[in-house]
Formats: sequence, C-alpha cells, structure tokens
Amino acid sequence: MLSEAKNKLLTEVEGDAPMGTLLRRYWHPICGSVEMNRSDVRPVRLFGENLVLYRDRGGTLGLVDRHCTHRRADLSYGFTERTGLRCSYHGWLFDEKGNCIEQPYDDIANPGTRLKERCRIKSYPLKEMAGLIWAYLGPSPMPELPVWELMTREDGFAEIAIAEIPCNWLQCQENSCDPVHFEWMHENWTARMRGEADAFAPKHLKLAFDEFEHGFTYRRLREGQSDASELWTVGRVALWPNGFYLGDHFEWRVPIDDISTLSVGWFHTPLPLESNGYRQKSIPAWRAPIRDEDGRWITSHIMNQDIVGWVGQGVIADRTQEHLAASDRGIAMIRSRFIEELAKLDGGAELKGIIRDPDVARCVPLPTPDAGPIGKRILSRAEYVVDKWLAKRLQDFPWHWGYPREILSEYRRAVGVE
Ligand code: FES
Ligand SMILES: [Fe+2]
Repeated sequence: MLSEAKNKLLTEVEGDAPMGTLLRRYWHPICGSVEMNRSDVRPVRLFGENLVLYRDRGGTLGLVDRHCTHRRADLSYGFTERTGLRCSYHGWLFDEKGNCIEQPYDDIANPGTRLKERCRIKSYPLKEMAGLIWAYLGPSPMPELPVWELMTREDGFAEIAIAEIPCNWLQCQENSCDPVHFEWMHENWTARMRGEADAFAPKHLKLAFDEFEHGFTYRRLREGQSDASELWTVGRVALWPNGFYLGDHFEWRVPIDDISTLSVGWFHTPLPLESNGYRQKSIPAWRAPIRDEDGRWITSHIMNQDIVGWVGQGVIADRTQEHLAASDRGIAMIRSRFIEELAKLDGGAELKGIIRDPDVARCVPLPTPDAGPIGKRILSRAEYVVDKWLAKRLQDFPWHWGYPREILSEYRRAVGVE
C-alpha cells in the first residue's frame, strides 16, 4: 500500500512532475524505424507533451513541438523538405535542431531581420538503433544510448510490436517484476479460456529478487523444476527504469502522459543453424490492436493478457487500496528505488543505470539464459521445428494478437520452412 502522495509521486509524469523529470534522463523507444519513411510526419505525445516526429526528404529524423512558432499551426499537418519540416500555414521551415531556417515572406520583405533567431522551435535529439527510433527528452549532457547485447546478435529474426495502452505507465512496469502472474494469467487463465477446466499449472514455490546496475532480477522455483533451471539461476530482468527483458525480447512502457502508455516490444527469435548467413534487410514493426470488435480487451495472447491486468487496475492504479503480499517483494523494491532516485534529482548525483562511456554503451550484457529455445544455444532446423515453443511460434506470434501475415511469412522464410 502507498500513501496518496507517494502514488502521485511515482505515477505522474507530465509537466515538471518529478517522475517525468527522472524518466526524461533516459532514452526511450518511440516508433519503429520502418514506420517513418522519407517525408512521413506523425503526431506523437510523450510525457504529456504534444510533438511531431518526421523524417525529411534527406532522411534526417526530427522530433519537434506540435505547434509552429509563427502562429501556432499544427505541424503534424506540415510537409517535409530535403532539410526539415515546413509548416503548411505560411511555409516557415524548421530543421531537426529546432532552427527556423526559412520564413518565406519575411525573407523577401524583411531580409535583414533576425526574427528567425527568436523563432526556434523546441526539439529533442533522436537516434536509430535496432530498428527503433529513440528519443531523449532530458537535459544536457545526454547519456549514451545503451545497445543491449541481444540487439547486437545477427543470428535471429528481430521484430517490433507497438500498442497504446490507456493507463498509467507504472502499473505496466510493475508487471516486469511480478513472476507469479505468469502461472495464473498466462497459464491457468489461458487453460480455462481453452476449456481445460481441471489441471493447474505448476505452482511457484520460491522467489528471489536481486538488484543490479540495470534493474532487478526475479528468479522462480516451481513445482517439478530443478534448482539448476535457469529460471532459478538466471531469471528475468525488470530493466531500469521502464523496461522488461526476458532473454528473447524487451518490453518498454513509455509514458505518453499520466493516463496512457506506449508499449514498445522488441522481439528476437533465434534462427536454426541452417539459416546461418540470413540477414534481415530491415526490422519489421507493426501496431497491435488491443480491443476486439465488441470493445472488450483481446485476451488470447501473452501481452494482451498482461494489458488486461494493467488496464484493469484503473487508469492510475489506486495504490492506497492495495494489499502487497509475499509475491510483491520485487514491486516494493522497485518503488523504494524510485523514491531514492527521485531524491537525487536536486543534488546532481548520477542516476541508476546511466551510461556515459560510449565504449560501455556499445554492447551492454544482461542476465540471459543459455539453454532452451530462447537461450544462446543454436538449434538445428530438425530440433527447431519440433521444439514445443518454436513450433507454435512458426504458426503465430505468441505475444500480441493481430500478427501481420507478411511478417509471419518473412520469419518462416528466414527459418527455411516456407
Ligand atoms: S503558423 Fe506556421 S508558418 Fe504561420
Ligand atoms: Fe505477463
């Protein structure tokens, strides 16, 4: 249980709310690279700020204020030039650094004026990495963008699924350190939805939570599982400050504002030995629907089920009404760490997990299992197609409903079964 004041402190991210200030000190994925072709312009909202993401005709990406500095027209209806984004109202042109580089009528009527210098637009730096567009919305100096080790691997099929979730980011992130929900939400509930009414999945018998530089690990021991299992020896990672890493994929919960969250998933499926040499031309990205045609939440796929959990807690979960139990120790640890990190904001001390050294950022390892279909060992195609998890994976994407057929076909071609 949290006090109302602490719940506000940990959840609110808009304006100068401390949690927004803290999260802005980290890079966040905001869009798939392939979703932004040359000349594309799209509105985006981050931390309650209305912005415009564009890729100009020269290929440069920009993230700028939604409103033109002239008379506030909506730049998501602007159009791109070789350099920059042009407002469709009177043609002012802005580059990705926020410089106003043309004011067409004033450039003729009043060529000596220095008005442009006063008409800079707010802009934020972007980077592209692993098929994602990353934004940094904090103060200078910006930290390095960590390249997580899984993203450097070239032996798999990577893809991105993005969904907008109508609830606060923190309840989504708390799911990253919540091992027991797996048994109930993803196993027992799934079995019941399939009409399997009798058996229960193996129970969780023991949990362990540990903190490290880039977050927290949780480890689990379940009925019938040996303590040599990597679910116990390695576990999973609640990635600081708003991610989740499961050995084969990442999930980020990026605040759109106090009441909505961009869920960005980056998935890596290993390919069989025989596919050695397959290289993706680009990493596909798609937007995953979360409601069915009746307006109910989709419940069939893993992350859809998680979303039912998150949105079910309310738009901003009321933590004054909850009752934390033994299974929630990781969640309590994350909340305490956030409260300690928030206290650092005024003093200038370095925040948890920030990387300043480019050599360190180039490849950042995380606890990752060696064995199993999502581990580091590469299977032969014969082993691959009979593996319980991968055989299902060859039929559908397990995490989100609505997998585009063309991405499934591309994946199957990479595996060599199509
Ligand atoms: S409002 Fe944008 S150019 Fe006038
Ligand atoms: Fe889950």
